[in-house]
Amino acid sequence: MSAADETATAAASGAAATERFHHDKSPYDAVKDTPKERVDLLAREVIGAIHETIRKHQVTYDEYNALKAWLIQVGADGEWPLFLDVWVEHVVEDVATADRKGSKGSIEGPYYAPNAPERGADAELPMREDEAGTPLLWEGAITSVDGTPLAGTVELWHADSDGFYSQFAPGLPEWNLRGTFTTGEDGKFRIRTIQPAPYQIPTDGACGKLIAAAGWHAWRPAHLHVKVSAPGHQQLIAQLYFPGDPHNDDDIASAVKPELILSPVTQADGSAKIDYSFALDPQED
Ligand code: DHB
Ligand code: FE
Repeated sequence: MSAADETATAAASGAAATERFHHDKSPYDAVKDTPKERVDLLAREVIGAIHETIRKHQVTYDEYNALKAWLIQVGADGEWPLFLDVWVEHVVEDVATADRKGSKGSIEGPYYAPNAPERGADAELPMREDEAGTPLLWEGAITSVDGTPLAGTVELWHADSDGFYSQFAPGLPEWNLRGTFTTGEDGKFRIRTIQPAPYQIPTDGACGKLIAAAGWHAWRPAHLHVKVSAPGHQQLIAQLYFPGDPHNDDDIASAVKPELILSPVTQADGSAKIDYSFALDPQED
């Protein structure tokens, strides 16, 4: 493979994210009983909000045509998952989890892959032999909101120390920094991994074009992604962040919450130790 083939591109990661989305879910099935009235209401209000913006800001034909070209490019680049997960998902997550009493969640983002290798309750996340980055030791437990320990799973995935995700950037082993940890009756887990780098969403595709044209930045703070599951409980999807990251306060995906910021303690050997546990809400009837 040439050096050029090894370069991460927006089109390649976008295409992979789009393919992954279609592969994992059948999004229409879950809403097949939605009444016409609700579809009509939501579609009318979204389209109406666009009309209102055009009138309010006197949008020109040149701007309309640029928008049309850009929307076509988002699709061509496979960047709809990226666009939606960065600028829309956080509000859906807020609404979906507003009634929860347990741990706070956050957006899933476009880079989850199901069925990551099972590692038990006390193990290292799959990684390369020479994986770069500060070693991280994470101890925690899964409990119910009342404190009862739960046998369940923590699925963990995160970027490497260059900000790249396996399966979405070239040149990484398939399951690099992706794993499933299964807890016993005591709910406890202990995971060894490395600290991920801050992550810049791809800037060479349609989303990057918007970011540049609007004078925004493309950064997400460094983060660990988790899905935590246990029988009889609502699945928790969250991201955990590191204190002091310059982008905790201006995450492009608006997905940071104060409860999700870790308190790592540096050990004598230079590694960092974190304690963070998950309290799951019981399933709704
Ligand atoms: C995106 C990437 C992430 O790692 C994430 O957590 C959320 C969004 C993105 O590129 O869209
Ligand atoms: Fe991420």
